[in-house]
Amino acid sequence: MREDGAALPSTVPVAVIGAGTMGSGIALVAARAGHPVLLHDAAPGAIQRGLDGLRRDLDRLVEKGKMSTAERDAQLGRIQPLPNIDEIGPAGFVIEAIVEDFGVKRDLFRRIEAAVAPDAILSTNTSSLSVTALAAVLNRPERFLGVHFFNPAPILPLVEIVSGHVTAPSVAATAFATCLAFGKTPVHCRSTPGFIVNRVARPFYGETLRLIAEGAASPATLDAILREAGGFRMGPCELMDLIGHDVNYAVTRTVWELLFQDPRYKPSLVQKELVDSGQLGRKSGRGFYDYTIGAAPPVA
Ligand code: NAI
Repeated sequence: MREDGAALPSTVPVAVIGAGTMGSGIALVAARAGHPVLLHDAAPGAIQRGLDGLRRDLDRLVEKGKMSTAERDAQLGRIQPLPNIDEIGPAGFVIEAIVEDFGVKRDLFRRIEAAVAPDAILSTNTSSLSVTALAAVLNRPERFLGVHFFNPAPILPLVEIVSGHVTAPSVAATAFATCLAFGKTPVHCRSTPGFIVNRVARPFYGETLRLIAEGAASPATLDAILREAGGFRMGPCELMDLIGHDVNYAVTRTVWELLFQDPRYKPSLVQKELVDSGQLGRKSGRGFYDYTIGAAPPVA
């Protein structure tokens, strides 16, 4: 491990596991900072979909004159597909962004630890699972921590650097410095349910879902009020559609369980219905709102 809290040099390969909403964005963040990036996903076609999405985003920047084609090609060129997770060996910094499921993440990290160098830093982008408990599945739990980006990762500056009970301070310091070098604004925190932002945000979503369940107001009305009168950049329903209801529901359930089923954090049946029906938000084309081309705009 590096003892000085200096950023990992940009020559160190970063592996990003999961090429969905968060993973593809995180891959771009690391590539933008000059790192070679290995991008893995277990689902067929997912790595390519992630790369195609990034290309579309960068093409838009080129069209607007905000990026040269050479810079676009350089950034995308640094991201290499990693079809076989067992070939993750060269990575010095692993950032996992797969499904929010403890068992699936645990199995993945056991496999990763067997393949990487002993001084590689292993991290999770989990929104809510216990970093301490995930670390405990490793032979070297002191090299494990949470590196929690926000959606969309290439744009939002905040990153929570989450230390578990036995995370080495030098590992947290290196991750912090590396995120600074990524151009982000990292903050240190401890592994508590929901960390900082997701803990503070749970009641925001929870009360919104309660108001909808009680028939007090429609999602469009709630969003309009919070945006127009509250000064929020996005309303709570728009934001939940962006996050993905599967992800947000999983986070709510975990925070509620980890806080010994505190009723303040109780999950909502409204959210469960959206998940059960496959209406996951933007990524599935429908959530509170319809994102298919030609859909009518919502009426507040
Ligand atoms: P997503 O559903 O968009 O993408 C997850 C990807 O992981 C999928 O492409 C899936 O095929 C892949 N995957 C699932 N199991 C895998 C495995 N065993 N090995 C390799 N790949 C696997 O999910 P999203 O939104 O990107 O979330 C990923 C993580 O980031 C979760 O832990 C979530 O809590 C966290 N997160 C999500 C945020 C959001 O706004 N969506 C914000 C911050 C953190």
